[in-house]
Order: sequence, then structure tokens, then C-alpha cells
Amino acid sequence: MRERRLHLASLEDAARLGARLAQALETGDAVLLEGELGAGKTTLARAVIAALTGESDAPSPTYTLVQSYETADGFALLHADLYRLRDARELDELGLDEALDQGAALIEWPDRLGAWRPADRLEVRLEEAGEGGRDVRLAAHGSWETRLDRLI
Ligand SMILES: Nc1ncnc2c1ncn2[C@@H]1O[C@H](COP(=O)(O)OP(=O)(O)OP(=O)(O)O)[C@@H](O)[C@H]1O
Ligand SMILES: [Mg+2]
Repeated sequence: MRERRLHLASLEDAARLGARLAQALETGDAVLLEGELGAGKTTLARAVIAALTGESDAPSPTYTLVQSYETADGFALLHADLYRLRDARELDELGLDEALDQGAALIEWPDRLGAWRPADRLEVRLEEAGEGGRDVRLAAHGSWETRLDRLI
């Protein structure tokens, strides 16, 4: 595992990190977005989706739990928000494994995943910092280790 810390002073900084993440994404990647309510998980996921699909107002999958996207060149992107997942058995129905076969997954509230932890994963922990910004800890596992430096 390799880790890096950075600070996002504004929504523009979040958009830039999202765009760099989008460029680095490969098939089989999971990006685990961690942090309290309001930490900025959906904001970062939306920035990735916007960079990859041009969809600038992606809905938050608060109730649907998952939302899928496909880029023009056929790369599949799944955005999941597991906050309302009631039972680990529901996970099977969300198609996370299938999503990673065809593309990448951005997952909010990954603590709900239980033992399911993809080997190639980037853990992004967001935390509110002073003056409206966010502190970010990136923890790169598996193939993300060699791509971590592209993100900062
Ligand atoms: N880097 C940032 N700088 C400043 N404001 C931010 C940043 N990221 C997010 N925000 C603001 O914080 C608020 C909450 O963000 P967001 O909805 O992305 O959080 P979340 O972690 O997805 O929350 P939840 O767990 O409730 O889904 C939004 O109003 C958003 O504009
Ligand atoms: Mg959210």
C-alpha cells in the first residue's frame, strides 16, 4: 500500500482531482470513497463521471444504490452509494463484480461492503477541513500503487 495526502481548497480543486482520477481509471478498478455525511464523496464521484461521460449533473444514487454510465468508447463506470444498503446479501444484486469486469466502480460508503475488497483499489478518505476545504488521504492498493503519483 502507498499513500498520499492532499488538500482541496475548493470545488474547483475537487473537479481537478476527479478529472485526474478519470484519466487514471482502468478496467477492474474500484475507487472507495470514504468520509462522513457531507464530506464530498458524491462531489468527487460526479467530477469523475463528468470527465468521462460529459454528464455534468449526474444524479446521486442515494435510493437506487447504483447508477451506471458508459463512455463513448465502451468503458463502463458504476457509481454506487451503499449508505442505504440494508443487508450484505443485497450486494450480490448490485452487480459490482460484473461492473469491474467491464470497467470501474466508484463506491460511496464502502464500509458496507464487508469482506468484499477488490485487490486493485484506491481508497479516498475525505474530511472537512478549515474554511470549507477538504483534506484527502489516498491509499493505493494493488495496481493503483504505480498510478498514485498521477493523481496529485
Ligand atoms: N472539495 C470541496 N470543497 C468545498 N466544498 C465541497 C467540496 N466537496 C464537497 N463540497 C460541498 O459539500 C457538500 C456535500 O458534498 P457531497 O454531497 O459530495 O458529500 P457526500 O460525502 O456525498 O455526503 P453524503 O454522505 O451525505 O452523500 C456539498 O454542498 C458540496 O458542494
Ligand atoms: Mg453522497
